[in-house]
Amino acid sequence: MASRPIIAEDIAYLRRCAHLAGLADSRVRDNPRVGAVLVYQHRIIGEGYHQRAGEAHAEVNCLASVAAKDRASIPLATLYISLEPCCITGRTGACTDLIRREGISTVVFAQRDTTPGVDGQSVALLTRAGITVREYPDFAPTLAVNAHRRVLTTMGRPRIILKYAQSADGLLRPANRREKYWITGPVSRRLVHRWRADTAAVLIGGRTVVEDDPALTTRLFPGPDPRPVIIDLRDRCTGKEKIFQTRGKGPLLFTGTDRQDIAAEKIVLGPDLNKAALTQVLTKLKEQRYGEVTVEGGAGLLRAFLSAGYWDEARIFTGRVRFGQGVAAPSLPAGCQAVQRSTIGDDLLEVFINPAP
Ligand SMILES: NC(=O)c1ccc[n+]([C@@H]2O[C@H](COP(=O)([O-])OP(=O)(O)OC[C@H]3O[C@@H](n4cnc5c(N)ncnc54)[C@H](OP(=O)(O)O)[C@@H]3O)[C@@H](O)[C@H]2O)c1
Repeated sequence: MASRPIIAEDIAYLRRCAHLAGLADSRVRDNPRVGAVLVYQHRIIGEGYHQRAGEAHAEVNCLASVAAKDRASIPLATLYISLEPCCITGRTGACTDLIRREGISTVVFAQRDTTPGVDGQSVALLTRAGITVREYPDFAPTLAVNAHRRVLTTMGRPRIILKYAQSADGLLRPANRREKYWITGPVSRRLVHRWRADTAAVLIGGRTVVEDDPALTTRLFPGPDPRPVIIDLRDRCTGKEKIFQTRGKGPLLFTGTDRQDIAAEKIVLGPDLNKAALTQVLTKLKEQRYGEVTVEGGAGLLRAFLSAGYWDEARIFTGRVRFGQGVAAPSLPAGCQAVQRSTIGDDLLEVFINPAP
């Protein structure tokens, strides 16, 4: 692997690639987030990122952005990409063909693409074509933007983020549900809407749909709304809740019985919220090309995912309010350490990574 020595300029442009890749929202679905930069004589002459599954890859957008006056420099330029370019024709053409067609002589990327049929094949192909290739497999910023691809290709399921807010005394909601309650402040709520724009599906339990009647939109942040996925094995939803009046395809509903009274895409799972049921949910979501999903509660659903071991990251807000009595927040497995701790407005945000997914 030609990844030594580390060239400082390579690292600087790969950092720019990671930044561009991170601009992509949930419309990349189960595709990788990829950024690309074309550099000639220490000057960026083109850049782009993959924005939407089925549409142009980062390399294509990058080369298309090169101004007419710079096009003659393309063969002498270095193409930086956050991920190994693809060499297979899927919904769009192979990027290795584009690189060869444009006559680019040097390609630098961070990680190999673990997609079957790519994974090193592109390196071999480019090298055979006389193109210089440098790789930086340990470059952390691009690993983080594509965490979902590694989960998909190694575990065969979407990446799962658990997200919830607890009161200062560790409760998800107060015992008294008569009044509307808030645990987090406006800045945290906006951040949650931003996260929603980045994950194509949000899962919630049937009881949360009925009790909270959430809209699950991104109204506080510009970006696509996620698709609501409801796990309602006790058939509590009535079909009149806000979520069923939503835009687009409407929710995907997993039910206990074959009910005909709700107009939504439905899948019957039976009455038990166990690992087998969750496996079926995840298999369906993978089939529908969801690369990353967020579980936004409530307690029953979060606990079911935790006890099945189906989680990769947990984002937990702790507010200042105290409820005294109510529904207890779930506990993460013993030994989980926060990898990030920040103050968002008046709230504490802690992020945990599952050490053994
Ligand atoms: N603070 C937060 O971040 C946050 C986020 C979301 C929701 N919440 C709160 O959480 C509350 C809802 O939480 P929740 O735990 O009651 O419900 P939930 O997680 O929304 O839904 C879980 C559903 O699964 C059902 N269930 C539980 N165990 C089961 C089993 N073994 N087999 C089959 N079905 C099973 C439950 O049935 P039953 O209805 O019969 O119990 C419930 O309908 C709401 O009041 C909401 O306010 C808080």
